[in-house]
Amino acid sequence: MGTGVLTAEAPPFPRRGGVLHCGAHSLEGLAEQHKTPLYVYNGNRIVERLHTLEETFADRRGDVPGSTFISAATTRTSTPSPFQHPSPDPLVAYSVKANPNLAILRLLARAGAGADIVSGGELYRALRAGIPAHRIVFAGVGKSRDEMRYAIEAGIMSFHVESAQELEVLGALAAEMGAVAPVAVRVNPDVRSPTHEFTRTGHATAKFGVSPREAHDMYRRVAAHPALRAVGVDVHIGSQIRDPAPFLRALDVVLAVADRARRELGVELGYVDLGGGFGISDGAGDALDVHALGRQVATRLRGRGLTLIIEPGRFLVGDAGVLITQVLYVKKSDKKTFVVTDAGMTELIRPSHYGGVHSVTPVRENGQDPVELVDIVGPVCEQGDFLARDRPLPLPRPGALLCVHQAGAYGFTMASNYNSRPRPAEVLVHGDHVTLARRRERFDDLIRGEPHA
Ligand SMILES: Cc1ncc(COP(=O)(O)O)c(C=O)c1O
Repeated sequence: MGTGVLTAEAPPFPRRGGVLHCGAHSLEGLAEQHKTPLYVYNGNRIVERLHTLEETFADRRGDVPGSTFISAATTRTSTPSPFQHPSPDPLVAYSVKANPNLAILRLLARAGAGADIVSGGELYRALRAGIPAHRIVFAGVGKSRDEMRYAIEAGIMSFHVESAQELEVLGALAAEMGAVAPVAVRVNPDVRSPTHEFTRTGHATAKFGVSPREAHDMYRRVAAHPALRAVGVDVHIGSQIRDPAPFLRALDVVLAVADRARRELGVELGYVDLGGGFGISDGAGDALDVHALGRQVATRLRGRGLTLIIEPGRFLVGDAGVLITQVLYVKKSDKKTFVVTDAGMTELIRPSHYGGVHSVTPVRENGQDPVELVDIVGPVCEQGDFLARDRPLPLPRPGALLCVHQAGAYGFTMASNYNSRPRPAEVLVHGDHVTLARRRERFDDLIRGEPHA
């Protein structure tokens, strides 16, 4: 288990002899072997972070086991889920969207994580990686009937239902299949989270979740439906949030929903899911104090007989991944210096899509290059194609390697083939081992699936 002390964490990519490393491997060596652009992930960091959260959010003083239980989707004849009783240990359901590479999912599966998914494709990946279905929760405002059917057949832990119509479709489908679908309503708590407007999901005008009043109504319908079972309540207020306060406000709202459902409908929920969104330290600010948050969450849940689920994505994999890119040219105009690299928005879209900030450093530091304010831009034919703007950087020479930090979450997973650029390779370093987690695409990958190829 990890120390649980975030501040004591070793840097995931330390500099030794002037060169960045991942474990025993220099990033220069990995780039030479696998070429650039290249994603490198530190598996030890990912597992440490998982254990940090498990410890941080555990209520070590124990809880009062209630009469409720959490069940997976069951056909009427199947055996019940082994994950049944309210537990003082949280379930960390890794948010697969952050980085769905199978090598990472397998690592997390072996370390005991569950999964938070938002599509049939993510369910397929999670199951392929060995994450047990009864530890998988399924969110998203637009689940199709086919996706719901697949998830019911797989026996997932719960559907996080985001509208009354979705509930209706799920109930009808489960009845048709002779199954009982487990449900947690995703509540929109109407809290403002201090993060980019595109990554904020907990305010009343966001498309996610339903109001507490509507959630109550939905629990009433679930209670009356023979093919639905209420098992929990869910909230997720956004991503890269560094302040504990909005999480606690959201938790208070969903606990009130759970209390009302018990009081007025006799519905006993088994879990509360607080979602993900735990902010990490990037080039622009500090990390969320997860210990402060964990303590307060545990205090609020004590004695309630509710298991806690959290859905971290970025917190587990964000700073455990880097993108290595090679400098192609340094281009100076009267007003700007551009460092043109072989990676851009096709490899990492966060900076141009929602102002994502990543620190960028030379892979090899010599302490001699003069520091200049530069734009680090990619080769894609878009003015919005950049990795960083107005950044002080030791002015590199063509051929030098740069390391884009905090790129493990929402990096490769959002990569595209725009400009017909093959997507990069991914490698996972875990202990002494380096695994090719995804090979670099070739030109023939670009036309696969096109009948005229
Ligand atoms: C429902 C849900 N849970 C969890 C997450 C994970 O967020 P993060 O990677 O910021 O922890 C997301 C991200 O968008 C989400 O939509």
